[in-house]
Formats: sequence, C-alpha cells, structure tokens
Amino acid sequence: MTEPFAAVDVIAAKRDRRELTDEQIDWVIDAYVRGVVADEQMAALAMAILLNDMGERETVRWTEAMIASGERMDFSGLGLPTVDKHSTGGVGDKITLPLAPLVAACGAAVPQLSGRGLGHTGGTLDKLEAIPGWQARLTNAQMLEVLRAAGCVICAAGDGLAPADRKLYALRDVTATVEAIPLIASSIMSKKIAEGAAGLVLDVKTGSGAFMSDPLQARRLAETMVRIGNDSGVRTRALITAMDVPLGLMVGNALEVQESVEVLAGGGPSDVVDLTVALAREMLDLAGLGHKDPADALADGTAMDHWRRMIRAQHGDPDAPLPTAAHAHVLVAPASGVLTRLDARAIGVAAWRLGAGRARKEDAVSAGAGIELHAKPGATVFAGQPLLTMYADDEARFAGALAAAEEGITVAAAGTVVDRLPLIISRIT
Ligand code: URA
Repeated sequence: MTEPFAAVDVIAAKRDRRELTDEQIDWVIDAYVRGVVADEQMAALAMAILLNDMGERETVRWTEAMIASGERMDFSGLGLPTVDKHSTGGVGDKITLPLAPLVAACGAAVPQLSGRGLGHTGGTLDKLEAIPGWQARLTNAQMLEVLRAAGCVICAAGDGLAPADRKLYALRDVTATVEAIPLIASSIMSKKIAEGAAGLVLDVKTGSGAFMSDPLQARRLAETMVRIGNDSGVRTRALITAMDVPLGLMVGNALEVQESVEVLAGGGPSDVVDLTVALAREMLDLAGLGHKDPADALADGTAMDHWRRMIRAQHGDPDAPLPTAAHAHVLVAPASGVLTRLDARAIGVAAWRLGAGRARKEDAVSAGAGIELHAKPGATVFAGQPLLTMYADDEARFAGALAAAEEGITVAAAGTVVDRLPLIISRIT
C-alpha cells in the first residue's frame, strides 16, 4: 500500500507549530495501529503535541480517528435513553457504584465501561471484584442482557474499543507525554463515545488526590472534553469537583462497596450522597428525565433493587459477606484541637501501600485492605482519639502506610479555620 504521508512530515508540522490537517490526523492514527508509524515516531509526535498543543478541530478529529480504530457500540435497540458518567478518578471515589443503579431506577439505561486502578486512585472494577462471584468481563451480548435485566451494567472495556488509544496510552506512559490536555481529553472521550451512550456527564476532579491537581488545568480539561463530546453528537456536560479530601469514610475495595451499599440503603456519608445525587440529576436531565428526583429512588429502595439485579446478572452474590483483611491498626490524633487537613493523596498512597492498589498493571489487589476514616476536616478531636483504622492482609504493610497517612494529617489549635474546596466547584455545559 502506498502511504499518502510520511510520518516525519507530520511530526515536523507539529514541531513547527502548524495545525495538522484532518487527513494527516486520520492517517497517522490508522498508520500507527497498522505499525507503519513506529513507536518512536508516535512518541515524537506526542511530545510535539504536548509542547505545541492542538486546537479544537484537531482534537475532535484526533478523537474521531481513535474511535474509528475500533468498534462503536449501539444500545438504541433497548428503547431507553442511554447515559453514562466518567470520573477522572480520586481517593474513595466509589460514586459509580451507587450512581449507575440509581439512574437506572429513574428510567435511563447506563452502560458503563470501567477500568482498574493504577497508583493511588482505585479502579471501579477492582472494587466490584470484592463481591464474591462478580464478573467484570462480558461479551457485548452479555452486556446487553445485563442492561435489559437491571437497566445498568458496569464491566471491563473489550479489546475492540478504541484500540489506537490502548497503544498510544501505553506509549505516553513511558515517554512523559501523558500530561498533554488534548491527548488526555481525546483518550478519555474516544473510549466514552465509542461506548455508545447518547449522554455523558464528566466528573473532573481537582485537588491533591486528583489526576489534575491544578484547578485551571482541570477546568481546561473539562471544557475540552465537553466540546469534543458535543461536537461528536454526544450530549456532554461536566462537574468540576473537590478531591482535596477523600470522598466518604471508606477507602479500599470491599470497604467502598460496603459504603456504596449504605448509600443505596438510604444512608451513607453526606458527601457521597450529595455527589451521587448531583451527578444523577445531570444524567437524568441529559436523558430527558429531568422531572425524576433521584433522592426518591434512594429513599424508596428502587435503586437498591437495581443494584442487586445488576450484581446477580454479573454472577455476583449481593448478600455474601465481603472479604475483610486479617489485621487492623488504629492511628490516633497526636494532639487535641481541630482536624484541619486530611490530604486525599496521602490517604490514597497509604491505602495503596496497604494493598488496596497496584504498582504495576499485572499486580493483584487485596479486596479487604484499605482505610476507614473516623473524622473529616473540621472535626474537633482529642489527643489519643482514633482518626482512622488501617486494614491489611500483611502486618508488614502498616509501617509504610502509617508514614504516608501521618504526612497527610494536621491537627491545629481549637478555633483554626479549615480551608476546604466546595464539593462541587463548577459546572460546564
Ligand atoms: N485516563 C485516560 O483514559 N487517558 C488519559 O490519557 C489519562 C487518563
């Protein structure tokens, strides 16, 4: 096959701050998947994009080219409005677990392809795999069956979805080019658009525990993703939300499932409930079901019914006891006063060191490991009062986890004002 372009010319164009044409973008993504553009050439192009940026047209086209590298799912046969949510990830962020059945209980279908965690933020599939028997890998036909049975499905993305992104993301990871906003936005949106939902709500986190800790960068990422979604025919909006403090009181796989079930039972910590309901309202509005109040479906048990149906349809037992860790260690307040800081990243790193997360893609995670918080910033505490309990299968993990957690905690004199981000910082439509 004669190639219409030479990779070196495409790289030189971006190096010299020129806009790539639609034809160059379509070709470079396709040729990279075919192995005609080599890894070192794509790495050079990714670095040129990181340094010299891409405009809106280029970013939308790049996303469309990545979608075209694989299959695009279609749930129109369900006869229900379809809507999904994506979070850029945070510590204690278990929101997908109660949110998908909650939105399903209000009448929309939620097809959600999720990932596993790497580093200090957890992955939705790792959390759900704490439930005995639960299966993450489904064929497209099985996904449709679960959607018909429960109105929602949470499963692993198959190999056919945006394969260009899988190859490019792995390359960016080892060439210091993950941080380019057009590449992050197109990576996330190619997978979400290929998933086939008609509406999409993005939860873009900012603060120490977030992937984008800088609020201005988080805003730019959110705006870019909202534009890509809307330009590609998926009704998209975003909430920028706080990740300076862990969400809820539980961090760790089985612990987060336990907290999600509490929310579905009508209880749970207020920040988890408030964010779940706020995201559900956005999703229902996009699905044309803005007249439904998700708070009712939490209170009357219908969201819980959908959760139980979804877990069963994916071979899990919603009544089985969740795994617990063999050992516990309590961290107490070093002094009396006000807890002014409980840093999300520090707590995420501590949970990861306890075994809740993985360092390399192939590592296993511990279902029972994690942290239960007993106080959140703003609480009055007394010297010696338990601040958090750590759980691990192996006692040797406590020393490293303690070092990380202690680093993230500040107890100041009574009356000190606590500086916290609001839970929902802004909304982008
Ligand atoms: N998550 C993704 O899926 N892609 C990125 O580039 C960054 C985060």
